[in-house]
Amino acid sequence: MAFGISLLSLFTLFALSILSFAYSKAQMVPAMFIFGDSVVDVGNNNYLPCVARADFPNNGIDFPTKKPTGRFSNGKNAADLLAEKLNLPSSPPYLSLLLGKNDSSFLTGANFASGGSGILNGTGRAFGPLLPLTKQVAYYLSVYEHLVHKLGSNGAKKRLSKSLFVIVTGNNDLSSYSRDSDLRKRNTPQQYSDSMLLVLKGQIKRLHIFGARKFVVTGVGSLGCSPSQRSQNEGERCDESLNSQCVSYNKGLKSMLQELKSKKLMDIHYSYFDTRRFTEVRAACCGLGKLNAEFPCLPISTVCSNRSNHVFWDGSHPTEATDRVLVDAIFDDPSHYTFPMNLRQLVAV
Ligand SMILES: *[C@@H]1O[C@H](CO)[C@@H](O)[C@H](O)[C@H]1NC(C)=O
Ligand SMILES: *[C@@H]1O[C@H](CO)[C@@H](O)[C@H](O)[C@H]1NC(C)=O
Ligand SMILES: *[C@@H]1O[C@H](CO)[C@@H](O)[C@H](O)[C@H]1NC(C)=O
Repeated sequence: MAFGISLLSLFTLFALSILSFAYSKAQMVPAMFIFGDSVVDVGNNNYLPCVARADFPNNGIDFPTKKPTGRFSNGKNAADLLAEKLNLPSSPPYLSLLLGKNDSSFLTGANFASGGSGILNGTGRAFGPLLPLTKQVAYYLSVYEHLVHKLGSNGAKKRLSKSLFVIVTGNNDLSSYSRDSDLRKRNTPQQYSDSMLLVLKGQIKRLHIFGARKFVVTGVGSLGCSPSQRSQNEGERCDESLNSQCVSYNKGLKSMLQELKSKKLMDIHYSYFDTRRFTEVRAACCGLGKLNAEFPCLPISTVCSNRSNHVFWDGSHPTEATDRVLVDAIFDDPSHYTFPMNLRQLVAV
């Protein structure tokens, strides 16, 4: 009898461990919706008449297909690696779905990110028509309608409340400000950062009205130390005034999120991630000129032989190797870079 029981419990344990294994391999969240700039663009800009594009070599040299896809990277980017971590398929670019190049039910999410774009409508306008954050959120609203149609209002709300809303933006707004003397004449650095945060807050509230509850929001990097910035400075130094504006924007972002959760949207959960401390001082892998960063990554540019020991792929974008380090940190960071929780904890809430 005792033997029977222990055999049974052994069997139960075995079954449980198989189950938990299967569970850990299963999707951790039903869907992920991605908003932002070139750090997470998977090819939306290929469908826009703009010059902020990466659908030519040497981009994609380490992508599984070895082909350029519109990702500003040698391989997979942070959007793909996040999807990998969550056992979700990498979303095709939203515009490819909108234009009927692919079918999607949007059940596992969508990617609206657009290289060169920012929080403010005018950011990156010189590159041609991009998708600023407000436009990306407007596209999300039509996906929301689609999900309500498919799953019913309650079904859609339930699914969305467990889904992740990832926002990676702000980099281009701040680098435009540092380059554009008109913008600097019209706004102090503080006014400019405040206007970015005001729009971002409005868009988070809008997403909340349409079902979003779990947010991942990243700060901006040390933009003043990107190879393209450094290649323009004497002694290849970092642009410290840009860096300090990045620090103060990130501080503002962190407190905006805290305030939003404690006073207005109490039912949200979020993970803020500080990418800034990760940026290392190295040359770009693909490019030409000083630090390989005076010219963009083009078919004629030189490419470093080892993409695993370069932080930067081109003048301003990380390599796949760097993105892996970042995404691992977003997931399991013990609180040095994430606030108030890491992504694994956010998923489990
Ligand atoms: C269509 O979507 C699937 C699933 O995400 C993807 O594997 C495939 O490459 C996409 N095809 C095109 C033409 O984008
Ligand atoms: C930005 O563009 C959206 C339309 O995409 C518009 O609704 C909004 O008012 C614009 N914001 C500003 C500050 O111009
Ligand atoms: C490339 O760099 C990585 C990281 O420094 C190193 O582990 C690897 O051995 C290098 N590969 C080659 C082929 O040198």
